[in-house]
Amino acid sequence: MSKVLNFGSLNIDYVYSMDHIIKPGETQAATSRGIFPGGKGLNQSVALALAGSDTYHAGALGQDDNSILTDVLKKAGVKLDYLKTHALPTGHTIIQVDKSGQNSIILYAGANRSLEMAEIDETFKHFRKGDLLVLQNEVNGLERMMLQASSIGMKIAFNVSPFTDDLLKLPLELCSYVLVNEIEGGAIAEMDPSSDPIKLIDGIRKKIPRCAVVLTLGTRGSILSYPDEKPRTCGCCKVKAVDTTGSGDTYTGFLLTMLMDGKEPDEAMRVAAAAAAISVTRKGAACSIPTLEEVMKSPLLNNIPDFKG
Ligand code: RIB
Repeated sequence: MSKVLNFGSLNIDYVYSMDHIIKPGETQAATSRGIFPGGKGLNQSVALALAGSDTYHAGALGQDDNSILTDVLKKAGVKLDYLKTHALPTGHTIIQVDKSGQNSIILYAGANRSLEMAEIDETFKHFRKGDLLVLQNEVNGLERMMLQASSIGMKIAFNVSPFTDDLLKLPLELCSYVLVNEIEGGAIAEMDPSSDPIKLIDGIRKKIPRCAVVLTLGTRGSILSYPDEKPRTCGCCKVKAVDTTGSGDTYTGFLLTMLMDGKEPDEAMRVAAAAAAISVTRKGAACSIPTLEEVMKSPLLNNIPDFKG
C-alpha cells in the first residue's frame, strides 16, 4: 500500500461564536469560545487517515502544550515520525464563526513556517515512487518539497490555500492534483472568479495542462478535471451548517484517499462531498471529521443534489 506524506501546518484554533463577522472599528462580545485542533495540514491528515490512507504528518510544532494537536492526530491513526518541535510558538488562529456557520480566520504561522531544508530533505528519504505528497500553503519550503517528491517519483497533491501570489512561481506542473476554490482558481487562470466554472477550469487547465484540477465551489459543489477528459461534477449535500471550518480539508482528505484507492472519480467525489457535509454539522475543524464508516452509512451519500454550476 502506498504511503501519504502530508507536510503541513498544525494550529491551535481559538474559535469565537459571533452574531456576525466583526466589521472594522466594531467591538462585539462573543457568545462562546472553543479551543480546537486545526491547521489545514493537520485537518487534512486527520481526514486522510479517517478515510483509510496510511498517513504520515510532517511539520513543526512550537513550545506550547501541543497535546490537543498530537492527540487528535494519534487518535485518527496518523503517524508522527517526522514531526519536529522548534523554539517558536505553535501556529494558532483566531476564528470567528457567525450564526450561519460562515467563518473568518486570522492565522499566526509560528513554528509552521520554520521548517529547515535539511529536515525536509531527511523526511523524503523515508518515501518512494508511488507514494503521495500532500501540501497546502501554511508551511515554508513548498518548492523544495515539490522538487524532492518529484525527483523520487512521488505523486503530489497541492491544495492552493490560503492563496498568496508567490504560489504562482512554484513548479505547479509537477503536481498530479491541484485543488482550488474559485478565488484561487481565478488567480491561477487570471480570470474573474465568478466566471462560469467550466470556463474557469479551462482557464486553469491552460496554465497547468498536465495536472488534474479540483475546483471546489462551496454549496454549489465541485468539479474534477483530468487532462483530455470531460470535467466531472458533483453537487453539495444540504445540511444545517454549524461550523464550516475544515470542510474543504475534509473533502480533500477523502477525495485523495478514494482516488489513491482506485475508486472511480465520480464515486470519490460523492464520498468526499458527503464527508464534508457531515463535518459542517459539527463544531471545530479536525474534531468534526467523520470516519469512512460513518460516511458510508450516511443517508447523505445517496442524496447528493445535482451540481449547481
Ligand atoms: O481550513 C481550516 C483551517 O484553516 C483551520 O483549522 C485553521 O487552522 C486554518 O489554518
